[in-house]
Order: sequence, then C-alpha cells, then structure tokens
Amino acid sequence: MSIFDRFRLDGRRALITGATRGLGRAMAQALAEAGADLVLAGRDLGALDQTGQELTALGHRVAGVQADVGNPQRAERMCDVVLKKHGPIDILINNVGGRRDKVSFLEQPLTDWQRLFDLNLTSAVVCTQRLAPGMLERGWGRVINIASICGQIATRNIGGRHYESAKAALVGLTRALAADWAPRGVTVNAIAPGGFMTDANRRWFGERPEFQKEVESLIPMGRLGNPEELGPLAVYLASDASNYMTGAVLTIDGGYTLW
Ligand SMILES: NC(=O)c1ccc[n+]([C@@H]2O[C@H](COP(=O)([O-])OP(=O)(O)OC[C@H]3O[C@@H](n4cnc5c(N)ncnc54)[C@H](OP(=O)(O)O)[C@@H]3O)[C@@H](O)[C@H]2O)c1
Repeated sequence: MSIFDRFRLDGRRALITGATRGLGRAMAQALAEAGADLVLAGRDLGALDQTGQELTALGHRVAGVQADVGNPQRAERMCDVVLKKHGPIDILINNVGGRRDKVSFLEQPLTDWQRLFDLNLTSAVVCTQRLAPGMLERGWGRVINIASICGQIATRNIGGRHYESAKAALVGLTRALAADWAPRGVTVNAIAPGGFMTDANRRWFGERPEFQKEVESLIPMGRLGNPEELGPLAVYLASDASNYMTGAVLTIDGGYTLW
C-alpha cells in the first residue's frame, strides 16, 4: 500500500455536524475528495441541499440531515434517523460549536451557560454515545472532536468563558474515551484550531477591523487560517494513516499558542 493510499477513505461513511459552512464544510469537502461517503448535519435545509449538491458533484454519496444538535433530544433523534436511513457511521466529526462573545462570566444566566455547553459539549456526547457503539462492534472507528485553542488558553478581550470551559471539557472527554477504546480499534482525537477566516469571522472582523489587526499581530504566521487548511488534518485523523494516534489534541493555529 502506498503512503497516499493510507489516507484514502473509500468505503467509509462519515457524519459531520455543522457541515454546511466554515470548518465543517471544508472538512466535508476534504473527506469527500479522499473517497468517503458523507452525512452532513445542519439546521438550514436549503444550505444542506446546496452543500449536498456541490459535494455530490465530486462523485460521492452525500446525504443531508436537518437537526439542531445543540438540543440534546434533537441530536439523539438525528442520530437514530442517520443510523436507520443511511446506515452505520465509521467516522464522526463533532464539529458544531460556538461562543457568545462579550458575555460577562459573572452576569451570564445559568440557562445561557447550559445552552452553550449543550452546543459545544453535549452535542458531541450525544452523537458519540449513539454512533460509537457500532464502531466498537465493528472494531474500527474514528471520533474527531473539534475543540479550540481556547480549550488550552483564555482568549483576550472577548469574554464568554462558557467557550473556554466547554472546549476544555471536550478535550478531557477526548482523552478519556481514547483510553477506554484504544484496544478496540476506535480512536478519539481532537483538533484545536486557532482563528480561521470563516464567513462568521469575516463578518465579525469586518465590523471590527482593529480587532483583526490585533489578533493577527498575535499570530507568528501573521494571518488567520483558511478553512481548507484544516482539511488534510481531518483526512489524516479519519484515515488509516493515523492508526496509532489516539487521545491527541492537534493544535493548528499558525503558532498563536507559541508566544
Ligand atoms: N472559526 C474559527 O476560527 C474556530 C476556531 C477555533 C475553533 N472553532 C470551532 O470549530 C467549529 C466550527 O466552527 P465554524 O467557525 O466553522 O462555525 P460556523 O462558521 O459558525 O459554521 C457553523 C456550521 O454549523 C452549523 N450549525 C450551527 N449551529 C448548529 C446547530 N445547533 N445544529 C446543527 N448545525 C449547526 C451551521 O449551519 P446552520 O446554521 O444551518 O445550522 C454551519 O454549517 C466549532 O466547534 C468552533 O468552536 C472555530
């Protein structure tokens, strides 16, 4: 088998939560190019249809499933529908997440804190609980959790500490499940991205150009990442190329956390 063949994903089926935009969309494209069949999850049916059509043009089977995975009951139902309609999932990318910036820790209502934990952490818990049993039975599987450098450091001048807390917990979950499932052929790894130029960040920086300059000055490479730059790492973790890696948290941040 050639070195490149080890990165192929032919015959594997991947579910990616939050796959119509941003990092999820970029990872979906990369996995499709590597040969995987995809199930994409998101809330907006129109966006799911459009992304599905674009990725199907690459010649693979792509299905969309509409759900708000930040709601644990809906995430559970979504997984049941996926298993029934699309069959077993070999690769699960728990990508959905987000932060409310400028929220003071001391003033944030607990219901809001809980909602954001459901989005960033419980969504991954529920999807993994529902979809990993099949991987364990078959003796092969990949769980990839999209954490953040905010699971390791506190971002300056932004507030919203639910995000740092939930991403750190996601990293803890990654390590613990990796240890539990290491002998059973299922690896669990996390990716910790730094700032990437997704549409949401482009809009956000558009409104605060001075903040973009400030952030870029903190990155040794002097720029934010492009979402496509995450694709190869996702393919590595999803494929046989990473057979011996589990419980890792791979930082991809242009050097942000070095200083
Ligand atoms: N962008 C960055 O710089 C950065 C840095 C570090 C970590 N991350 C992490 O990377 C992940 C992806 O971030 P991103 O910036 O690419 O996000 P994004 O641009 O906001 O994309 C979000 C994607 O998730 C879907 N989505 C959002 N909420 C959802 C929900 N409740 N249920 C189902 N789908 C939902 C969206 O589609 P719908 O709106 O149609 O549902 C869209 O497809 C997150 O976990 C984030 O914390 C991002």
